[in-house]
Amino acid sequence: MRSRDVKRLDTHDLEEVCGENGERMQFNKLLFLFSTIVVCASAAHFLEQEWNLWKSKYGKQYDTEEIELNRQEAWLATRDLVHKHNQLAELGLKNYTLAMNQFADLTPEERASHISLGLKGQLAISHHTHIRHGNLPVIPDEYDWRNSKCVTPVKSQGECGSCWAFATVSLIETRYCLDKGKQLIFSEQQLVDCDKANDGCDGGLPVKALEYVSKNGIMKSNDYKYKEKQGKCLFNSNNAIKMKAKKYYYVNGEANMAASVATNGPLTAGIGVNDEFMLYEKGIYDGTCADGPNHAIVVVGYGRNYWTVRNSWGDGWGEAGYVRMKRNINQCSIGVMPATMEFTFN
Ligand SMILES: *[C@@H]1O[C@H](CO)[C@@H](O)[C@H](O)[C@H]1NC(C)=O
Repeated sequence: MRSRDVKRLDTHDLEEVCGENGERMQFNKLLFLFSTIVVCASAAHFLEQEWNLWKSKYGKQYDTEEIELNRQEAWLATRDLVHKHNQLAELGLKNYTLAMNQFADLTPEERASHISLGLKGQLAISHHTHIRHGNLPVIPDEYDWRNSKCVTPVKSQGECGSCWAFATVSLIETRYCLDKGKQLIFSEQQLVDCDKANDGCDGGLPVKALEYVSKNGIMKSNDYKYKEKQGKCLFNSNNAIKMKAKKYYYVNGEANMAASVATNGPLTAGIGVNDEFMLYEKGIYDGTCADGPNHAIVVVGYGRNYWTVRNSWGDGWGEAGYVRMKRNINQCSIGVMPATMEFTFN
């Protein structure tokens, strides 16, 4: 263990202190030293316990002791950062808190580069892409598609850069339910394996995936289960729900986004996420971001000053799998490439 807290326990340090004072050390000093050691020991004990609890909560296993020590060192640094941030939040100096979540055992650099999150490519505005301009309808101050009971449970992409598939499937699940009145859970793995316009676990674009689905249909998740890695395409057309795309929308800017969400339904968007964002716990995220979009998500609603964003990092991340992002400041580039599609299902 190499943390500061734990290092205070080193017998080496203890000897130094003792050596300095030598025999002249008075009883009360000894007593003080002794109580310090006890306090340190119990702090170290609690820290060790916290580490073990965290590991079991997130199912972390490390191959070697050396790897574990490295991870624990990163975890302690994250813990420091999270505590400092949350103290500021408690003082009202931050609008969101951070958590010791599944990314806590990575260094900030690793979190940033871990971003095999999977948004890849520029938004291609093809001939059937409509760009909505002007004529904004009057919309409510707040909207949340989760109230429709047609936003399916949050999923986890795991260690695969398949955010683009998760965002796409989530959009289709909600559209299907709104149209048919029941929830079906569809297959991200089909997109990861079979959509050759995208790059499986190496990234993709929801707009292209939506085109793939409107051409081929999509299987249910139970019939084509998520494997967290790319494999052979096992698509069976007979087993797929077919749909026809009516319109693609590239929804230009945040005012259009709100109009589209309120009148049409959820939309996919790209956001630029970084190491800080990955530790988000709750509140309205107005923190730091990556330079441009690198992660695909779904906007399922909005409040007066935030977007309600569905993520694909499990329901243990953020606000039950969601993050509220500050609205109308193009926070993390959220207004750069929002897109949606209207379907008719067979
Ligand atoms: C929190 O949000 C409010 C309202 O958007 C903003 O004015 C304020 O600057 C934010 N606080 C911090 C510390 O960023």
